[in-house]
Formats: sequence, structure tokens, C-alpha cells
Amino acid sequence: MIFDRVKSLDAILATAEKKSLTRSLGAFQLTMLGIGGIIGTGIFVLTAEAAQKAGPGMMISFIIAAVVCAVAALCYAELASMVPVSGSAYTYTYAVMGELLAWMVGWALVLEYAVAAGAVSVGWSGYFVGLLENMAGINLPDAYTLGPSQGGIINLPAMIIALLVTGLLVLGTTESAFVNTILVVVKITALTAFVVLAIPAMNMENFEPFAPLGFAGISAAAASIFFAYVGFDAVSTAAEETKNPQRNVPIGLIGSLAICTVFYLLVASGVVGGVGAQPLMDEAGKGLAPGSAELTAACKEIGDAAVVCSKEALAWTLREIGWEQIGNLLGLAAGLALPSVILMMMFGQTRIFFVMSRDGLLPNVFSRIHPKFNTPYVITIMTGVFVAAFAAFFPVGALADISNSGTLFAFAMVGIAVMVLRRKDPDRKRPFRTPFVYVVAPVAIAGCLYLFFSLSDYTKMLFVIWAAIGLVVYFVYSRSRSHVGRGIVDVHEDDAGIPPPPVPPVS
Ligand code: ALA
Repeated sequence: MIFDRVKSLDAILATAEKKSLTRSLGAFQLTMLGIGGIIGTGIFVLTAEAAQKAGPGMMISFIIAAVVCAVAALCYAELASMVPVSGSAYTYTYAVMGELLAWMVGWALVLEYAVAAGAVSVGWSGYFVGLLENMAGINLPDAYTLGPSQGGIINLPAMIIALLVTGLLVLGTTESAFVNTILVVVKITALTAFVVLAIPAMNMENFEPFAPLGFAGISAAAASIFFAYVGFDAVSTAAEETKNPQRNVPIGLIGSLAICTVFYLLVASGVVGGVGAQPLMDEAGKGLAPGSAELTAACKEIGDAAVVCSKEALAWTLREIGWEQIGNLLGLAAGLALPSVILMMMFGQTRIFFVMSRDGLLPNVFSRIHPKFNTPYVITIMTGVFVAAFAAFFPVGALADISNSGTLFAFAMVGIAVMVLRRKDPDRKRPFRTPFVYVVAPVAIAGCLYLFFSLSDYTKMLFVIWAAIGLVVYFVYSRSRSHVGRGIVDVHEDDAGIPPPPVPPVS
């Protein structure tokens, strides 16, 4: 039963063929799209959390997370170039391992996209609050800028930005290729400025002790900082809009990941070398949990004079090494650019729901289109309300970790799918072949498992609860309504009604 109801790859590909007229993105735009989705809260904010978990050893954490993403991206690239249609990991799994696992992947992608949108909203709030304080001298009270676990009541700025983005999506705002490119330039300029100013200020003594919380700390930080790399799969979801996807999708995936990895390592060295990155510990020598009231209290005691206390790690570092105004400008860059990451994540979520609803696994109302704005407003508003609630009440690190648990599950399934498909359908044309697939895919799967098990027990428990709810929904609702299960073969002439792509065709 686990592997039955496989969706025909030919039917999926027929859908893609019919769409060939809308293929307009090239390798450069795809790479830009990838970088646009990748650089966000992870590097701008979670660097502080990684430091609190691993100390300077977070450099290794960045490398581990990059390696896991790179091998996962190589597997993604084979499937994305073979099956260049909407739905990403969900669609691949449907075609290879059947409906139940596809459902579980789609369900896990809710964590990847919707919870991640919440995390990025909280990250944005940290920069917004910091900017108000440093540029306008306005201090918002903690009660309205922190969630309950950090000693506040509600994170209002995070909630408001999530609702604003929801409004834009309902109105049909999709990021244009042009705006995306501008924002990528803004983010890269901000990170470059950071590197150029922080690297010369490096003090090698700040790298000692390198791993105050041992390898366990480095692993835990890797599991969290993995978030900083998520988003490259936005490239695969745009495969349907890509010219020559066989060549360009792999370039977009791997190119964007490689560029971001280089930046992240330079930025992390700048933070560690520039201001030090030692974690705050309790009396027993255990690191205080990021996002906890204990850490907030310990930070208050030292007047927030450590990067691990900052909600705007990179701006704080620049101010600390004497570049106050540039620190503010970097904060401004983050404030401008992060909403587009929220937009892309929420957009990704609505599109996955849309495809699942089109397959009959979710209610039809999910794909109801607004008569005037031509957007799937019902699902967008539902998603937005949940994202805003996550953003209002949870700390950024917890949300990022929960999102990672779902993403790691989806990536592991892609690793399995690529090998199964090599066996099941060896003769199908593979425009991009994962090199050494029987090494790379198992490494990807093992890497995902390793990072998953390095997440906190709390996060793993939430993932299991979420998966269990998913199974109940599947067996109670979706299984009997599935189009594949009822023998309906969907081939969509033109994907009428599907939300527009995040990057509209450009000529
Ligand atoms: N990688 C994206 C970020 O860091 C999700 O915000």
C-alpha cells in the first residue's frame, strides 16, 4: 500500500510539454532566483544562533550544511531536469514512490515553506526594531517585539509584515525578475560590504576556544544554519518556466548554492574574527538555549554586549567594529530584501497546496481563484493567517528548526527517488545525471538524517506530531478523493488558474 498509486511520469511530462510556450528563464535568471530565495534570515540573523550553539566552530557548521545541500541539490537537479513541472519534491515523489509518500512530502513542505515564512518574518522584525532604535532613536517595548518564550507577549512587527505580504499575494503581486535581480544585488552588496569591513578587523584570538560546546554543538548549529541554504529548490519549482531546463536548472541550482556558500563562509569568519562568537553558558557550563528567556536574561545582564544576543547579528557586528552608519545601511538592506524571501516562501506554499488540491488530495476550495485578482485567495489567506500566528508567538530559531525538519525529510525523499527512478526507468532520457549517483544520493540521505537527528528533541517531536496529523488527514480525507486513486488522469492544457510564477516571463 505504501508504494501504490504512482502518478504516471508520462502524464506529468505531458503537462509540462503543453506549457512549453511560457519557458523564458535562462541560467543567469535562475541563478539569481536561487540566490534570491537563499540569502535571507539564515545569514542575517541565525548566525547569532549558530554562534550560541557552536561558538567559532560554527564555521564547520556552515560547511557541513553546505555539503548536505550540495549533494541534495545534485539529486534535485537530475529530477528537476527530467520532470520540469510544478510541485518540486512532491511531484517527483508522486511519480516515483506513489501517493502516500508524496502526500507526506507535500505535508512536510508546509513546514519548509509556511513555517520558514514565519521565521523570515521574525528575522525581519529583528532588523526593523534595530533600525528604529539606531536610526530614529525609537525603542519599542520588548513586550511587543518578542514572543512569549523570550519574555515578550507578541511580536507585532513580525505579524504585521506577514499579513502585509499575504495582502500583496492576494492582490497578485509576484516578484518580477527585475525586482528580484535588484534585491539580489542589494543583498550581495550588503554582504560584500560586511566582508570587506569585517575581515580586516579580524582578530585570530577570537577563534579560541574554537568549539566550546564540542562537536555536538557544531552539529546542532549545522542543523539550524541549514536554514540559511534552503530556498535553492525555488529554482526547481521554476523549472516549468525555464528555457532548456536540462542545462539551465542544474546550473541555477548548483551555481546559486556555490555563490552563497562562499559568501556565508566569509561572513561567518568576519563575525567570529571581528567581534568573537563565544556562547553564553549557565553555571554548569551548558550553552543557554537560543530563543529562551534564560538567554534573554543573561544578555540583559551583560547589556546585550555579545553577538549571540543580537537579533540583527551582521548590523550589530559592523556597529561594534566602528562602522555604525554602514551597520545601519546593512540593516536597511536586510529590511528591504527579507520581505521578498517571505513572499517567495509563501508563494511556494500556495503553489504546493494548489498542486495537491488539483490532484484531489486537498479540498477544491483551496484552489478557488479570486474573480478579480486571479489569485488563489482562499489558500493564500489561510496560509497567511498561520504564518502571521507563527511569526507573532515563536522565536526565529525555533521556527527555522521546525522548517528544517520538514525540508530535510523532503530532501531525503528526493535522494531516494533519484535512485529508485534509475532502477525503475533506466532508459528514460536524463538531461542531467547526478554524478556517482549511488554515492551522492546515499550521502545526501545520510546527511539529511544526521542533520535531522542533530535538531533539538522538541523540534523532532513536533515533526513527528505533524507527520501523524498528516497521516490521519490522508486516510480520513485525501485517499478516497485522490484523482489518481479514482483513475482520473490529469493533463492540464495550460494550467488554467494556476498562480503565476514568481518570476514572470521576460524576453
Ligand atoms: N534561506 C532562507 C533564509 O535564510 C530561507 O531566509
